[in-house]
Amino acid sequence: MKRMMIAGNWKMHLNVHEGSVLVKRLNDHIIPHHSVEVVLAPSLVSLQPISQELDHRKFRLAAQNAFYKDEGAYTGEVSFTMLRDLVHYVIVGHSERRIYFNETLETVRDKVQAAVRNELTPILCVGETKQERAANETRRVVHDQVTTALANLTAEEVENMVIAYEPIWAISTFGGEISKPDDIQKVLELIRSCIGELYGDQAAKQVRLLYGGSINADTAAGYLALPDCDGALVGGKSLNYHQFSDIVEKAYHLQSSQRRTRGQDRKTEEN
Ligand code: PGA
Repeated sequence: MKRMMIAGNWKMHLNVHEGSVLVKRLNDHIIPHHSVEVVLAPSLVSLQPISQELDHRKFRLAAQNAFYKDEGAYTGEVSFTMLRDLVHYVIVGHSERRIYFNETLETVRDKVQAAVRNELTPILCVGETKQERAANETRRVVHDQVTTALANLTAEEVENMVIAYEPIWAISTFGGEISKPDDIQKVLELIRSCIGELYGDQAAKQVRLLYGGSINADTAAGYLALPDCDGALVGGKSLNYHQFSDIVEKAYHLQSSQRRTRGQDRKTEEN
């Protein structure tokens, strides 16, 4: 069974001290479960101090962004190469970066490639705007974002990736409309089948697909239970340790009940 991932994207919130307070609370509240991987994405300045305070049996770290060149005269940027000893994951192509910092399909592709080149796992974010959804363009937009971002990768590299589907209209800071899990399943299915066509069955089966968009402790289970959902990318509610630990527990309970069901199915087949 794949490990579910619950990732908290802190965005540009919490200074080093505030981040350290939250980490202390999360260290106390979150119980490690083998079936659930918990990832924190604090701001860049907090990565180093948090990496020293974090209980590494419980959490992994992600950066929220990096530049695709490994080194050079790029004032203000930090490269994937510089992050490789510090984090496991890097969020790439978040809609806030595409919208506010003009990241194009090609920039996102170059960043995914730089992450992989530096042995970091990208958490690639894709998702359509409200207008695109209204114009029935969700499939085309998401398909283009996925195929461009993964161009140049091998099937094995794609297999190890994480892709988060975050419809922009559902992200709390862009309106936070509550999405219907059935609609989300359709897009996750589309992403998986698109990967299957391009990289084969194994990559499609193994790649982890997350959902993100105004997830909280009450709504999480509805998305996490979807057949093609392997976890969640949580923004606003990842700053609240009660909410975030509850979401992790929901994921764990779902994994445990699915494991039990599979065990029972196996026994029935054997009898
Ligand atoms: P949200 O953010 O949970 O606050 O909607 C999700 C994200 O932007 O990753």
